[in-house]
Amino acid sequence: MRLPGLIDVHVHMREPGATHKEDWDSGSAAGLAGGFTTLLAMPNTQPPVVDAPSLEMALQAAGRKARCDYGQYLGAGPDNPDVLPTLAPRAAGLKMYLDQTYGPLRLGDMGLWLAHFARWPQGMPIVAHAEGRSLAAVMLLAALYARPLHLAHVSRREEILLIKAAKEKGLKVTCEVTPHHLFLSEADIPTIGTGRSEVRPRLASESDRLALWENLAVIDCFATDHAPHTLTEKDSPQPPPGFPGLETALPLLLTAVRQGRLTLEDVISRLHDQPRRIFNLPESPETWVEVDEDAAWEVRAAQNHTRCAWTPFEGQQVVGRVRQVVLRGQVAFQDGQVLAAPGSGRNVRSSRGRETS
Ligand code: NCD
Ligand code: ZN
Ligand code: ZN
Repeated sequence: MRLPGLIDVHVHMREPGATHKEDWDSGSAAGLAGGFTTLLAMPNTQPPVVDAPSLEMALQAAGRKARCDYGQYLGAGPDNPDVLPTLAPRAAGLKMYLDQTYGPLRLGDMGLWLAHFARWPQGMPIVAHAEGRSLAAVMLLAALYARPLHLAHVSRREEILLIKAAKEKGLKVTCEVTPHHLFLSEADIPTIGTGRSEVRPRLASESDRLALWENLAVIDCFATDHAPHTLTEKDSPQPPPGFPGLETALPLLLTAVRQGRLTLEDVISRLHDQPRRIFNLPESPETWVEVDEDAAWEVRAAQNHTRCAWTPFEGQQVVGRVRQVVLRGQVAFQDGQVLAAPGSGRNVRSSRGRETS
């Protein structure tokens, strides 16, 4: 079975600053192994991507090492509402962290939310990490400033219902849900382990999890929020929040298709069509993913390409395996082997990227 090259609008590549967790090489290899040909990377690196030098640093690393296509978000900070608009054409979008997260980018002061909404160029994506009441507040701002807003990793019943209501009123909001919030809940914490289960937003109740499935029509995209941390870090007294997800997302979703819980079209629209439309991404010619939809296998971190060397889905039985990935006419992945060279990926915002559309 052939799928389009998948797009993950929410990944953490950890470069610059924490390449022992992941870098553009290992992260993009994990992406290809999972069927993704485009990855949009979050700005909570070290240093965070908040100005021209840090954007340059991140794009240099991606340009040198990425094996698949990529974009880089800018992070909204206290000092940069004026400078970000000049950098916007080179970025995937603006990321605003409004709740507890990993890294230094949380915006506590709501005055800063206003400053960023007022200045960021129209027509360029804004993504918010906003939970509960922050989600309600930031949707009001988006409505007041009359601009589209994409909500990252929605995880709770009250949130998906709020987004549903906003959409019914005609607000231009879109949202993504992660596979871990679709397939895991608090009930899985004892199996995964307390430290390893740390993730933001936290694993929610079974009722929250079911609400996501009940409101599938409200979910625009699936996104992994691939957030690699090493096992030593996850098993330490202060475990950082985050799960890897690039290599498990598609098999988990295809398994749900097999079980009749959603359709293949539901998956393609949320991992390709909608991400492409919402983030205004170029079409990638001669790009596809060959999947053996009957291949049954067991998730094992040891077989993965991500550097973090663990997965919360260890031992899970899944059906559906990526056999081959072709990116712009080149075989990029074949039967477990990543063939695309580091540096062969393109920036989705470069003119070179656009020429190919
Ligand atoms: C993310 C990370 O580790 O960068 N962690 C997480 O638990 N999701 C940060 C984030 O996405 O908020
Ligand atoms: Zn987040
Ligand atoms: Zn994230």
